[in-house]
Amino acid sequence: MISRPCFVAIAFCLLAIPATAQDAAEGRRIAERWCVECHLIDDSAGTVAPDTGPPFAALARDPGKSEGALRGFLSDPHPPMPPFNFQRDDIEHLIAYIKSLGLAE
Ligand code: HEC
Repeated sequence: MISRPCFVAIAFCLLAIPATAQDAAEGRRIAERWCVECHLIDDSAGTVAPDTGPPFAALARDPGKSEGALRGFLSDPHPPMPPFNFQRDDIEHLIAYIKSLGLAE
């Protein structure tokens, strides 16, 4: 039997690890699946109608779209965005990917 405090410590570690791991490559994979329909997800010119959502590269350069702002928005997107129900680490990967576009400048 695992003692109760020990179990709590293990559960805490399992929760804590994904929250800090941001993986931009994984974020891109999620974006290619869920976001391309409405957003330009990189600098390659338009495969989607450009007037739907803001291009991710523009979001990356917008000082108003801090990580905290993106995290808040993606946790509870409002229409016209679809009601995504992402896991917390999916959101972290997406933020890492979007932010990585801003570094290319
Ligand atoms: C069905 C179309 C659609 C899809 C799919 C979509 N978006 Fe959007 N998104 C929009 C539109 C339209 C806006 C502009 C909304 C507004 O200005 O109120 C937007 C705005 C945003 C914004 C800016 C929010 C802000 O604070 O101004 C972010 C960030 C964003 N989308 C991220 C994503 C991500 C990440 C995905 C994929 C996981 C995604 N979107 C998928 C349509 C979409």
